[in-house]
Parts: sequence; C-alpha cells; structure tokens
Amino acid sequence: MDNDSQAGAAVYSPLTLRLYDAWVLGISNRYAWGCPTAEVLLPFFRQHVGRRHLEVGVGTGYYLAKAELAADSEVTLLDLNPASLAAARQRLGRPAQVLRHDVLEPLPATVGPFDSIALFYLLHCLPGSLAQKGRVFAQLATGLAPGGVLFGATILGDAAGHNGFGRRLMALYNRKGIFGNAGDSLADLEGELRKHFAQVELRQVGRVALFSAREPVEGRPLPLS
Ligand SMILES: C[S@@+](CC[C@H](N)C(=O)[O-])C[C@H]1O[C@@H](n2cnc3c(N)ncnc32)[C@H](O)[C@@H]1O
Repeated sequence: MDNDSQAGAAVYSPLTLRLYDAWVLGISNRYAWGCPTAEVLLPFFRQHVGRRHLEVGVGTGYYLAKAELAADSEVTLLDLNPASLAAARQRLGRPAQVLRHDVLEPLPATVGPFDSIALFYLLHCLPGSLAQKGRVFAQLATGLAPGGVLFGATILGDAAGHNGFGRRLMALYNRKGIFGNAGDSLADLEGELRKHFAQVELRQVGRVALFSAREPVEGRPLPLS
C-alpha cells in the first residue's frame, strides 16, 4: 500500500464522515459540481446495482442505504479506510463482507464474482494521471461475473469548466491530496475504460462523469493447478 494512495483515504475520519453527507452529497454535488445526488447520482446507482454487489470506496454507505436493495442481495464493502468501512457497515444494517484493501492492488482471488461493482467518487481521490488510475479498472474487471457491470462517477479536472465554488474546492483538495484530479478529462477516462472493457457508456452532468462498463477484455487469471 503506498503513501500516495493513503492520502485520498486518510481524510475520512469518524468526524468528517459525520459531515460528509451534508457537505459533499448535499451542498458540493449540487452547487460546486453541478450533479445533484438525489436527482442524478442515486438514480444512476439504483439503475445499475445488482444482486451480488461490490461497493468500492464506501464513504458513509449512503448509496447502498438508499438503493432499496433486494432482500437476497449480497454486499461486499471495500475501502482502504477502516472508519469508512465501519460507517458504511453500520448504515447498511445487514450482513456484508468487509474488505480493507487498496483498490490499486489486485483484488483478492477469494472475493467475487459480482454482478455489479460501484466506484462512486473514488477515482478523483486517487493520485496520478488517469492512465495510472486505469489500473483500478484492470484490478476490478477480474471480479465481474459474466454479464456484470462496473459503474461509477468521478469529478472531472480543471478543463471541465468549474464554477468559482468548484475552482476553490478543487485547488484546496488537490493541494491537500484529498483529490488528485486536476488533469482528469472525460476523453482520458473513456480511453482507460475502453482499454479494459468492450462495452462502455459515459455521460457528463455538470463537472461529473458518470460511466458504466461491461464485458472485460481480459478475464480473471485461472488459478494454477
Ligand atoms: C469521496 S469518498 C466516496 C464515498 C462514496 N462512494 C460516495 O460517493 O459518497 C471516497 C472513499 O474512497 C476511499 N478510498 C480512497 N482511496 C482509496 C483506495 N486507494 N482504495 C480503497 N478505498 C479508497 C475513502 O476512504 C473513502 O471512503
């Protein structure tokens, strides 16, 4: 686990997680990023979540808690930060597999396969270029079941045309290592997704990219016999 990838996770303490829903999902999504949670992001989550689901970068567990999951759903929570895992697990209020793991590292062979894998507001927290972040798609693709979907949302970089509020947050968060997205563009995101998946859909709402991807180009490596 490298120190760079720690920075994007370390800010989520029990205290910041208590403020997260109001500040990020309430105020920032609507007024800084132009992508309101209830009208855009939550419906997108509900549209794609499947029965065997992997939630990557769980935060407070808001989307899972609001998704009205089927009674027979099986949920796995993956995050680098134990405080996020604890908050999401408690909020989910049903049994879940919990995995403390860096999404940049290979997915353990024992987890999955999943009908859906969500990564909401995770990519913009990671350091480096989108080409480097593309490693996440390679790792997660190995966990998809046949017909499964990887989907998510990420705040785009400076070229997305942020408003004054957004520009101030972008500058602050990138300086502190909370975000690593100044150079992230929709075109580069699409390029990385297409390297790993045969079927890719993207759209931009405000300064946020929403994406879904199916049919991994390479499957999970077969276990050595
Ligand atoms: C901005 S929050 C997103 C929370 C939630 N998905 C949402 O959209 O409201 C980012 C989450 O990703 C986690 N995270 C950041 N870097 C990570 C990494 N390298 N591997 C796994 N989780 C990471 C953080 O701990 C945090 O819980």
